[in-house]
Amino acid sequence: MSILIKNGIIVNANKTFTGDIYIENEIIKEINTNLNIESDEIIDATGKYIIPGGIDVHTHFNLDVGIAVAKDDFYTGTIAAACGGTTSIVDHMGFGPKGCNLHHQLKKYHEYADNIAVIDYGFHGVIQKVDDDILKEIEELIEEGITSFKIYLTYDYKVSDKDALRVFEKLNTLGGITCVHCENNDCVNYLREKFKSHNLKTPIYHAYSRPPECEGEAINRMINIAKIAGNYKLYIVHLSTELGLNYIKMAKESGQNVYAETCPQYLLLNEDKYKLEENQGLKYIMSPPLRKKSDNNALWQGLAQGYINTIATDHCPFDFNGEKQLGKDDFTKCPNGLPGVETRVPLIFSEGVMKNKISINKFVDVISTTPAKIFGLYPKKGAIAIGSDADLVILDPEKEIILSKKYLHENVDYTAYEGMKLKGYPVLTILRGKIIVKNNIFLGQKGDGKFIKREIS
Ligand code: URP
Ligand code: ZN
Ligand code: ZN
Repeated sequence: MSILIKNGIIVNANKTFTGDIYIENEIIKEINTNLNIESDEIIDATGKYIIPGGIDVHTHFNLDVGIAVAKDDFYTGTIAAACGGTTSIVDHMGFGPKGCNLHHQLKKYHEYADNIAVIDYGFHGVIQKVDDDILKEIEELIEEGITSFKIYLTYDYKVSDKDALRVFEKLNTLGGITCVHCENNDCVNYLREKFKSHNLKTPIYHAYSRPPECEGEAINRMINIAKIAGNYKLYIVHLSTELGLNYIKMAKESGQNVYAETCPQYLLLNEDKYKLEENQGLKYIMSPPLRKKSDNNALWQGLAQGYINTIATDHCPFDFNGEKQLGKDDFTKCPNGLPGVETRVPLIFSEGVMKNKISINKFVDVISTTPAKIFGLYPKKGAIAIGSDADLVILDPEKEIILSKKYLHENVDYTAYEGMKLKGYPVLTILRGKIIVKNNIFLGQKGDGKFIKREIS
């Protein structure tokens, strides 16, 4: 199968130019102007952007949070991703039963995804206890293509500072990367209990019980502990605050190896959502919570200035008229998370590039190239280059849509962006040389996606 794409505006993280791309056997074979190569299909991309397929390095398909299971699995979730211009994901494995080892979850996640996902996928390991056996097992997982691991400083399987230090040290020696969910657990729990005891249980108290200082303190603590461990790679997931960003800036400016990820919800939404009528604030219960407009603005600046490296989604959907209602009388009972895997690329293009907050190259950098580099997928993924996988998205900057649940493929009964006007939308998604989405219609097949055995980057 071969495809020739003609006259597109080809965008990489460092360069934009108009030209043609020839794809054969899953790979980009030629990039040039005026290519005349016989091919099975010719696509005219005049006036449209061609970008490397989006890479979302923070999803939670099939996630079991005890009280509920996330609504998207590796089939529905990856269809939604593909329709929104994403061709690879790295999913965060969820916690397993108490005391389980790392392979327990790895086996389970291969069962969830293998022969099911429609785009390429990898997994981040999850560390829910730290002992000598687990530290040893990390070495085996790296051999099996799991080169990054998440630790949580809150929730049921939070790790202590000492254990965080042990994980950093271990991953430093192996060249792996530690991802951290940064929130100060003791303060959050104290505030939750305090609000509950005063019968303050509406969604806004979710935000009040997780103030910016909880994130800032935990980020700063991890930066310092990572330095004690030898300053290797620390990756802060879902950064939501200006305060946290300031600690990251300080660390980066002093030469520390820290990467930051944010998500569209922290750039585009604010805590007013928790005050919506009819308990609609439940839709936005996630951790960390939505913040203030000033935080949104600071994060956009952090992206433009290079202090924030990636935009992922933390996609973790629960139905509003279903699982989210567990929290109707008490925010602490509401499963945490919101959908977003399908809207990430178009939202950041429309709100970021079209509104001049970031350049088109920065857009490609944060939604594809840098995630690929940090997590060991580059240059196979994340670039339009000869020899790279032909994972490409054609985006029409003139296409206008009003975002609505009806338009989307995510298997959940709402979108956090209902009614938002977008300018620019993906019109074609190609996964390793195969067209899997055309004009918002999924054309691929179950199992089209392959496991990405990641290398140390
Ligand atoms: O609320 C969220 N973010 N749920 C998903 C799990 C996590 O913390 O990333
Ligand atoms: Zn998290
Ligand atoms: Zn998450």
